Amino acid sequence: MSTAVTNPVVDVRGVEKHFGSGTNRIHVLKEVDLQAHAGEILMLVGPSGCGKTTLLSAIAGTLGVEAGSIEVFGQALHTMSGGALTRFRAKHIGFIFQQFNLIPTLGIAENVGIPLLIQGVGSREALRRSRAALDAVGLADRWKERPNKLSGGQQQRVAIARALVHEPPLVICDEPTAALDSKNGEIVLELFRNVARSPGRAVIIVTHDNRIFSYADRIARMDDGEIVEEKIQTHEQPPRFIHEHAIH
Ligand SMILES: Nc1ncnc2c1ncn2[C@@H]1O[C@H](COP(=O)(O)OP(=O)(O)O)[C@@H](O)[C@H]1O
Ligand SMILES: [Mg+2]
Repeated sequence: MSTAVTNPVVDVRGVEKHFGSGTNRIHVLKEVDLQAHAGEILMLVGPSGCGKTTLLSAIAGTLGVEAGSIEVFGQALHTMSGGALTRFRAKHIGFIFQQFNLIPTLGIAENVGIPLLIQGVGSREALRRSRAALDAVGLADRWKERPNKLSGGQQQRVAIARALVHEPPLVICDEPTAALDSKNGEIVLELFRNVARSPGRAVIIVTHDNRIFSYADRIARMDDGEIVEEKIQTHEQPPRFIHEHAIH
């Protein structure tokens, strides 16, 4: 599929962001330009503290920026009011946070169903779809349990199921494989690949995880608040998860 002629799914132009004040003021995003196109997995890489999570939060509409514009599916986020932005995000964006953000007092199927309930899906249908999403990440039999009964990797998979359950056209993930072993990492990357290959959808992944780089269609490298390099990957070989023993 040619993506050159389509409008980008995400269009970040000249974005600026500082944190702190006085002598503690730091320049976190410096005239950042970045596009993500339908049909692709875009990976954003760079050293800790370079601004990756800040940029993802701005794209997800959870963090305002000081200058520049961010359009998602042609909608300029800064022009939307709070309620409209919340509805837009709920429908269009699935977000996997670095810290998972699961609700401890709810069972994991209830956690996964939250985006569906926000959209007005009935509770029985929400439960059915949540269990199917948990099945896709290998956790079907745990659906009644609370998050604290699960390992870090299992919690991460619950967060992934929650981000995918409502089939949002844009999936944004902050270090989605950090806590996963090879087998589950591979399952999750195949899920992301299916998202990116379905019409009009895209996946943006922040990652340090060199086991997954071959799944990227494009890699943007960030350093000290700037995008310093962008590389398109052609897949002469199908992407594959590199198992630990192959790296060492
Ligand atoms: N809410 C915040 N308040 C103040 N400083 C922050 C905040 N969030 C991030 N920072 C700082 O901004 C810089 C970029 O952070 P972050 O986007 O989390 O980097 P990365 O995800 O690449 O590790 C870091 O120096 C971090 O300490
Ligand atoms: Mg981060």
